[in-house]
Amino acid sequence: MPRWQEIKPLVKIRPPGFGPEARLASAASIWDLREIARRRTPCAPFDYTDGAADQEVAMRRSREAYGRVEWQDVTVLRDVSAVDTSTSLLGAPSSMPLALAPTGFTRMLQHEGEPAIGRAAQRAGVTYALSTLGTTTPEDLASAAPDLNRWFQLYLFKDRDFSQELLERAKDSGYSAVILTVDTAVAGARLRDIRNGLTIPPSLTLKTLFDMARHPAWWYNLLTTEPLEFATFRNFDGTVAELVTSVFDPALNWADIDWMRQHWQGPLVVKGIQSVEDARKAVDHGADAVIVSNHGGRQLDRAPTTFELLPDVVDAVGEKIEVYVDGGIMDGGDVVAAVAQGATAALIGRAYLYALMAGGEHGVDRALEMFSAGIERTMQLLGVASLKELDRGHLKMR
Ligand SMILES: Cc1cc2nc3c(=O)[nH]c(=O)nc-3n(C[C@H](O)[C@H](O)[C@H](O)COP(=O)(O)O)c2cc1C
Repeated sequence: MPRWQEIKPLVKIRPPGFGPEARLASAASIWDLREIARRRTPCAPFDYTDGAADQEVAMRRSREAYGRVEWQDVTVLRDVSAVDTSTSLLGAPSSMPLALAPTGFTRMLQHEGEPAIGRAAQRAGVTYALSTLGTTTPEDLASAAPDLNRWFQLYLFKDRDFSQELLERAKDSGYSAVILTVDTAVAGARLRDIRNGLTIPPSLTLKTLFDMARHPAWWYNLLTTEPLEFATFRNFDGTVAELVTSVFDPALNWADIDWMRQHWQGPLVVKGIQSVEDARKAVDHGADAVIVSNHGGRQLDRAPTTFELLPDVVDAVGEKIEVYVDGGIMDGGDVVAAVAQGATAALIGRAYLYALMAGGEHGVDRALEMFSAGIERTMQLLGVASLKELDRGHLKMR
């Protein structure tokens, strides 16, 4: 039997931690942050983030595709004590090949919202795109994170004067590029939102009152901070689908991209490209970059799997414009795989939203640290000292 005197130095009883720091310290991955988020957030806003369209096949496939990657050409015994993860996106420096995709309704998920995400992105030296359906105005995000490389995501409204006004506001408040999202001719069918009866702002029904008892902190924060509203459409009251239908224009076509090109002189990014042919057309119509994206599987279910489509798009247009990819990216290894397939950068959506719901601004800091450490570690273990050295020889799909 070991004696107490021998065991004593090994015993380290720490008092249990409370509060956001302790909660976040226990998370080792984005999946852990998702679990914390799930416990802390009412079902309707959590499902709004976590869910996708119809049977959610596209979302599942996006994640599975990264699981099929097997690294090749792994080089050992190479000095990788200093790897360089930095790159540039449309001329702006970025500490890593990662950016934060536009996501709407953010303050409904967690009350700190877009300013918290913007400050965390600014600290990490990465780009963040504010959504047209944001809950913070372009001006307020700019003053919360003045040194952030900010992009503005636009849904082109039927009302072109209003669209033009938004572009002016983005320009005046220092947004360096505009993303035009083109995969939303109509709203996707988000079945979880329908089942949860999601409304924005959340309405007080018997179900929500019951939910309040289980998530008092979330409701307290919602009700004691600035009223929840779409910064660009004040006073909208209805379901997400109703809003989306009133905003999106199913008649949108390439002539509208030409309209955009005339009204926005800065870099233009077309988001939601799902075929090689459309990537080529985007170049012809003056895009400076495309995002190979299916909206995280939230629009067309069974859409092409973006990671698999990426190499073909890079081969077709990669010499002329920057190509980004999003959908299903959950760790640094996924980002390195996307760069090896030819992407300039990968964008994340849910990964940083889970982090926000798990721990507000500190949560987003934590997620970005995980990505940064994961990208660096993967490169070191692959034997690659800079992003330029990554190529398709580094992976095969199992
Ligand atoms: C909650 C949520 C809201 C979103 N809102 C928008 C939006 O307003 N505009 C847009 O272009 N894309 C939006 N997206 C799509 C993201 O920009 C991105 O394409 C997608 O999240 C990437 O997939 P991932 O979540 O698996 O990383 C949203 C995604 C989520 C999860």
